[in-house]
Amino acid sequence: MPFRCLAALLLASCSLGTAHAATLAAADMRPGLSLDGTWHYSVDPYRDGEAGFHGEEPGRASRRYADLDVEAAMKADPTALYEYDMDQSPTAALPSSWLTHAPEMRHYQGLVWYERKFDAQPKTGMRQFLRFGAVNYAATVWVNGKKVGAHEGGFTPFAIEVTGVLRAGENRIVVAVDSQASDTTIPPSVTDWENYGGITRSVKLIEVPATFVDTAWVRLTADGRVAVDAKLDGTNAANRPVSLHIPELRLTLNGKTGADGRWSGTIAPPRGLVRWSPDTPRLYDVTVAAGGDTLADRVGFRTIAVKGAQILLNGKPIYLRGMSVHEEEIGANPTRNITPETAHQLLSVLKDGLHGNFVRLAHYPHSDVMTREADRMGLLVWSEIPIYWRVAFDNPGVLARARAMLAEEIERDRNRASIIIWSVANETPTNDARNKFLFTLADDVHRLDPSRLLSAALLTGRRTVDGHPEMVSDDPLIGRVDVLAFNTYNGWYTSDKLADVPNITWHVPADKPLIFSELGADAKAGFRDPQTMRKESEDYQAEYFRQTLKMADKVPTLVGMSPWVLKDFRSPRRQHPVFEAGWNRKGLISETGEHKQAFAVLADYYAKKAAEAAK
Ligand code: GCU
Repeated sequence: MPFRCLAALLLASCSLGTAHAATLAAADMRPGLSLDGTWHYSVDPYRDGEAGFHGEEPGRASRRYADLDVEAAMKADPTALYEYDMDQSPTAALPSSWLTHAPEMRHYQGLVWYERKFDAQPKTGMRQFLRFGAVNYAATVWVNGKKVGAHEGGFTPFAIEVTGVLRAGENRIVVAVDSQASDTTIPPSVTDWENYGGITRSVKLIEVPATFVDTAWVRLTADGRVAVDAKLDGTNAANRPVSLHIPELRLTLNGKTGADGRWSGTIAPPRGLVRWSPDTPRLYDVTVAAGGDTLADRVGFRTIAVKGAQILLNGKPIYLRGMSVHEEEIGANPTRNITPETAHQLLSVLKDGLHGNFVRLAHYPHSDVMTREADRMGLLVWSEIPIYWRVAFDNPGVLARARAMLAEEIERDRNRASIIIWSVANETPTNDARNKFLFTLADDVHRLDPSRLLSAALLTGRRTVDGHPEMVSDDPLIGRVDVLAFNTYNGWYTSDKLADVPNITWHVPADKPLIFSELGADAKAGFRDPQTMRKESEDYQAEYFRQTLKMADKVPTLVGMSPWVLKDFRSPRRQHPVFEAGWNRKGLISETGEHKQAFAVLADYYAKKAAEAAK
């Protein structure tokens, strides 16, 4: 794709023209002009706006990114030909995926142009950035007809500098969004979830001083001190006074940036600090200020570590009562529009309904609306990048893209107390190229964020020991992760009788905490079959959970699970006309929120675990 550009190592935005690759951490908390709302859109299946019929630059008749009022231009010159007009094109409310813009868009994959106008009054001496929460999959951005930046990856934010391109008054923004997946995209073209193309998270115009606080990582260190690592961006970033404030703790730490515009400091917290945990999700207003700029965030302070086969939260062993969740709101026609309300609705089914304290946000970085809600509600989080199934592990460009995506994910959410685990892969085949690829990502995680735990959702093999199956794995990644995680589907994707599942044993290291990152069975809500117990029935799913939980109880190093999956979700791979019809039905609730029989089975199990932990 001509529009795509490989992200420089660790930072994805690539610059065209005046664009600048800033991170703008906690941008969702910065004041700014929201560009959410009504946008025009125009599909471009043959990429006419990208290239002419011989691949040359597109002609005037097709340049959808032009800063032009086409109707007026045609009136002014009746001989002029234009084969698009963004201002008269259909409209849609963004953020949302285009799958729900119109019935004919339901299965569209490829290129769509978005356009809107907005008023701005850029102040002299200040800098202006467009911040996108996420665009799936590749985005190229024009402002007032000028190409200002591009980004690849559908689940992480990017900020594009538009200083000097913005004008006082009316401005025009055009975004070319390409959802086309391929062997070299991340994820690759075959997954088990819907490829929601579009501008799926908020867009905001943010103005900052010439030198501003670009990132500020604030946390509690393993020895209980408050630490800050900040980076200024701008010509006066070096040797600049900077300070951390936590007013509720009457805590102030002053310092000065180095020649590279960075500052690191630690301070002993005052007595009154309440540590963050699922039971006490205490958050504090935190600011980092330098010159005329302030980065504000809401941060919880907690420590997370492993000790032998235990996971320690604030020094105490914890059992992870979890569920896996896709980024899809409850409802019959989801469009991946996660708002504080839809995030709360999803997560409260897990926290209040299932007595859970842990959520696996699968298989890609979810919206920062979701991770902030997990912070606020008190849910521990597993966050991952979509290194999923058949990634082109031997392709250096794909590795660079994966490393950039990982860096963006960590940069965005490093201040989220809820996030305890970064995962670098899901169900990937073991081979040299894959191992090397994942080892690189594992090292990146430990370098970018040594304060959290590393994991990956691995596959297992099995063997027969004394007549019963035993789960085994010789995956070399086992030696690299802090938390071992296996996806297991005995009795669903295997022909095991459910009654035999509790006798399946696990051959795993004794000194490493283990979680079942997936287990589950499909059931069509309302399909009951207590007599013959067919797969896809609620009865089979419920019994599957009863027997699998018995197996889980026998695994000494098991410290948690995130069964697959909280809610039925869209998947183009699932086409059984009666039971699936385009949905993966492993939810414990249906897409509209109906509870299936298995919901109560797991809720009871977690209630007992919670009661044990509270003792
Ligand atoms: C896999 C995979 C999921 C998938 C699930 C299933 O383990 O990780 O993405 O949806 O199994 O088959 O339902």
